[in-house]
Amino acid sequence: MLKAIILVGGPMKGTRFRPLSLELPKPLFPVAGFPIIYHHIEACSQVPGLREILVIGFYQPNEALNRFISQSQQEFQIQIRYLQEYTALGTAGGIYHFRDQILTGSPEMFFVMNADVCGDFPLCDMVQFHKEKCPDASGIILGTEATRGQSQNFGCIVENKDTHEILHYVEKPETFVSTLINCGIYLFTPEIFSTLEVTFKKNLEDNYNYCDQNCHIPGFDFQTPSKEVIRLEQDIFIPLASTKQLFVFPTSRFWSQIKSAGAAVYANRHYLTIYQRTHPERLAKNGEGQPRIIGDVFIHPTASVHPTAVLGPNVTIGRNVTVGEGVRVRETIVLEGATLQAHCCILHSIVGWHSSVGVWTRVEGTPNDPNPNKPFAKLEIPCMFSSDGRLNPSITVIGSNVQVPSEVIILNSIVLPHKDLNGCYKNQIIL
Ligand code: GDD
Repeated sequence: MLKAIILVGGPMKGTRFRPLSLELPKPLFPVAGFPIIYHHIEACSQVPGLREILVIGFYQPNEALNRFISQSQQEFQIQIRYLQEYTALGTAGGIYHFRDQILTGSPEMFFVMNADVCGDFPLCDMVQFHKEKCPDASGIILGTEATRGQSQNFGCIVENKDTHEILHYVEKPETFVSTLINCGIYLFTPEIFSTLEVTFKKNLEDNYNYCDQNCHIPGFDFQTPSKEVIRLEQDIFIPLASTKQLFVFPTSRFWSQIKSAGAAVYANRHYLTIYQRTHPERLAKNGEGQPRIIGDVFIHPTASVHPTAVLGPNVTIGRNVTVGEGVRVRETIVLEGATLQAHCCILHSIVGWHSSVGVWTRVEGTPNDPNPNKPFAKLEIPCMFSSDGRLNPSITVIGSNVQVPSEVIILNSIVLPHKDLNGCYKNQIIL
């Protein structure tokens, strides 16, 4: 029996995803028509013997999360539960804290998946790799190749190229280590808990020593750091490297992080491409009396799209969206309840929940990735601001409940929720 854990973090995470993460937890943001972690759950549902998924985070349980969990549970016929950390316990603290729940039913192995990544996850191949190549390992990390420049934003892995044993691991190194990076998708055996226990006890001891030395200081904060915090990357992978316990499974399939809104548009495109193989029925088709579809487009069945609209490539039209006459949409996610009025043009953007774009208006962003035609090219995410303090070109994000008037141009801008715009904007954050 296998299980999976999805690490969703909490409200203080996902700040680069604002203003979209102000409305709902980032793991529930819809990409290619479904919440980000729906894609994780769907991948898990295809692993034979995977019986339970534990979603671990420090969000207060909320209606959106509860509804999502119960709907997914029904759809995939897998037990799914949300386990709430009392505070941010780090990427492994929650796993150790909830060890009894994880070990119930004696799973042979369990996956751990960061919520803020997307990809064509080769989960069955990882299980097979463990069985065939490293049955005594307590952990396998999914790895992928990045460029030299990108690699320093990730966990970097040095492997034995013949056996794939991890010889050296450095989390976000300051100088170049390796282009093989950690994808934030892992497979562990229950043996990993002995390493977690050693780290937990050591942290506890260090914490007591720290308190002994500091508790006489007035105003000393006993709350931070929480003694239960364990960082999977620094506290577990670094000591396990070179002990024959930790291996890497390299993949060349699509994989990316979803840290920013631009990354969501990128992920949208790739999940739509994957649908060609896995779910062709989810992709809109051309037909008489239907809007013109170019490339991969997802239209929610409740959306109303005028037959003269032209959509695609790489467009997702959400639930109850209205798309008017002559509208053109490309490389864009339009979220639930939005209205695109006649003849507006939306390119490289996200249109927020229940927002409206007026007639003949143009909303346009600049794609983050340099080569949109290269399949699965790795995403380069530029900093939001240039060194002289100006907003770098980015996709345009219209927050929720925004009214964009008729006949204006909104270019490379981010609009916060509940705004009533009254003119054209370029390279601005509209507060
Ligand atoms: N439950 C819980 N509790 N989840 C957490 C916590 C926590 O305290 N802290 C982070 N997470 C979740 C986040 O929500 C996210 O899904 C994932 O763990 C990774 O979190 P980050 O701390 O933001 O790390 P990162 O994304 O910068 O880097 C990690 O992922 C990269 C791949 O995307 C590292 O594992 C890197 O080595 C890796 O390359």
